[in-house]
Amino acid sequence: MLLVEARNLPSHVGIIMDGNGRWAQLRGAARVEGHREGSRAVRRVVRAARRLGLRALTLYAFSEQNWSRPEDEVDALMLLLRDFLLSERGEILNNGIRLNAVGNIGKLPAIVRAVLDPLRKDSETATEMTLTLALSYGGREEIAMAARELACDVKDGRLRPEDITTDALRRRMPSLCVGDPDLVIRTGGERRISNFLLYGLAYAELHFSDTLWPDFDAVDLYEAIENYQRRERRFGLVGKPAPPDEKLAHTSNASREPLAIDNRHLRLVG
Ligand code: FPP
Repeated sequence: MLLVEARNLPSHVGIIMDGNGRWAQLRGAARVEGHREGSRAVRRVVRAARRLGLRALTLYAFSEQNWSRPEDEVDALMLLLRDFLLSERGEILNNGIRLNAVGNIGKLPAIVRAVLDPLRKDSETATEMTLTLALSYGGREEIAMAARELACDVKDGRLRPEDITTDALRRRMPSLCVGDPDLVIRTGGERRISNFLLYGLAYAELHFSDTLWPDFDAVDLYEAIENYQRRERRFGLVGKPAPPDEKLAHTSNASREPLAIDNRHLRLVG
């Protein structure tokens, strides 16, 4: 049984969804089959995140560097993305989810833009959860874009060089309009960041899962969050003295009253 505290949820969770290709290869199938199963995992995880009450979920769906993959794989990913947006439109709108996209959106093909743009617009006032798809996204590219914007403001006399602060940079980064990520999960066994949310990652907790993305489900998400809740975030400050028995302090807390029984795997406690 996993124990997740409702009061201590990460506000913004980012996920690097890796392992689709290997999932397919293990089954002797084409890579696109892994991506197809991967988009089913996206549905599951978005639902689980919304049910749990996360405020923001950012999914690394297509990196700026992914354009260099074989053309048929890129085309298949774009079709899957369009299908996802079409099939989830109702659920997104009915559940208070704001659909956002960050990255070089102008590079996406018209078949994606035709469904993405109206859904962004139609969901823009939703307040329960922001689902951000990072598409044609790169963390370095985003930092460079923010720096360019600030440089233009200085050149045109709207900003003084001394006003270029860490916050001024952050405010120019669309991926951080929902706040810095508190927790970033990478599936598929690799332990790297691959140009995801670079600037916002400064104090994020990282969780690496060996599960290949198409197999990732609600329980894996709960596990990552439970693990996050066991950590002490210090933001560069000194830590609290450790309780006599860390493990005991975490698991036996008589004052925790269950808020909801989510399913047989999870107890959400207040
Ligand atoms: C990485 O796996 C995954 C991607 C490059 C694409 C992610 C896309 C999806 C999960 C499906 C479509 C997205 C949405 C939002 C519906 P990989 O291909 O690099 O796997 P590998 O490391 O095993 O080769």
